[in-house]
Amino acid sequence: MPSVIVVGGQWGDEGKGSIIAYLAQHDEPEVIARGGVGTNAGHSVYIHGVKYAVRQLPTGFMQRKARLLVGAGVLVDPEVFFHELEHLKPFDVEKRVGIDYRCTIIELAHRELDRTNSHLHGKIGTTGSGCGPANADRVMRKARQVKDIKELEPYLTDVAQEVNDALDEGKLVLIEGTQGFGLSLYFGSYPYVTSKDTSASAIASDVGVGPTRIDDVIVVFKSFPTRVGAGPFPTEMPEEEADRLGLVEYGTVTGRRRRVGWFDFDFARYSARINGATMLAITMLDKYDKEALGVTDYDKLPKRAKEFIEEIEDKVGVPVALIRTGPELEHIIDLRENI
Ligand code: GTP
Ligand code: IMP
Ligand code: MG
Repeated sequence: MPSVIVVGGQWGDEGKGSIIAYLAQHDEPEVIARGGVGTNAGHSVYIHGVKYAVRQLPTGFMQRKARLLVGAGVLVDPEVFFHELEHLKPFDVEKRVGIDYRCTIIELAHRELDRTNSHLHGKIGTTGSGCGPANADRVMRKARQVKDIKELEPYLTDVAQEVNDALDEGKLVLIEGTQGFGLSLYFGSYPYVTSKDTSASAIASDVGVGPTRIDDVIVVFKSFPTRVGAGPFPTEMPEEEADRLGLVEYGTVTGRRRRVGWFDFDFARYSARINGATMLAITMLDKYDKEALGVTDYDKLPKRAKEFIEEIEDKVGVPVALIRTGPELEHIIDLRENI
């Protein structure tokens, strides 16, 4: 049974949430572990027309057989954690959730600093979720950890041990990345980046899995990349163009309007390479070609949409395994058997 990591290949909000939700339901992993920075990320999924957004817990929450884990590298905001336990009550998450006892805590002071500091808020345009300041305190070795918070005690676990045990037992483990490669502290457009590396290697490390134990890395790209906050975006289009093409989106966490651009093949190649992609997932194909909306069979895609997918495979050099053609969970083409 393989271990699979799903990461964003652009600047976040590629629709990783909806890819993860599909894999969680279709592949039935027994363990779903979340890596990444922390509550700065928002993943949203529609289930039977109802929108669920998660910033702390794994996006695969709807798979009722799965243990839901938050890796040691992920920042934990207790307020957000308890809010999500409540929000996801219909899915019986409470008894399935485990947070690594070593996770760093986001304090109120971290959030305040993130929202008021002229460098973070003003220049970088952070999400204000307190992630940067909390990571800074961890590096200074003065941050509190999950094990220091009494209310979190019922959820404490050793995620690294659970995930490695599951792999030893041949169970399927789905590992969720957050943000996107372009926001990596090392490989992104520094200083307009988040407070940590966001590549697949970092996500594996967040949950305590060594590089030799990862079987597949799925890098997710959206047909029109978006970026929120400041920083270079070479293929960005004017706002009016995004309006005209019906591409306007707003952030899940901050509600900010996302900047929109044309697909950047060179960047996608770089991203797939450093992430060690074995497969690609392309989302929002229906935004590229309206005729693609809801198509679930590759052969039935319109010619223009197929040519776009082929161009991506050709220029990036990695096969496209999953294609999303609409907002509902069943709007997907799964080509993994052909790879
Ligand atoms: P990640 O942070 O990468 O998980 O993305 P996100 O969840 O932040 O993105 P966003 O908040 O923009 O939510 C994505 C939304 O787009 C979800 O409601 C999905 O149901 C929807 N979506 C996902 N894939 C597609 C697609 O192929 N076409 C369309 N039209 N919508 C999609
Ligand atoms: P921070 O991660 O809150 O420090 O924000 C740093 C930069 O990363 C800002 O440009 C944010 O808009 C961006 N960012 C962080 N997390 C996400 C995400 O999940 N989606 C999109 N952008 C993000
Ligand atoms: Mg998002």
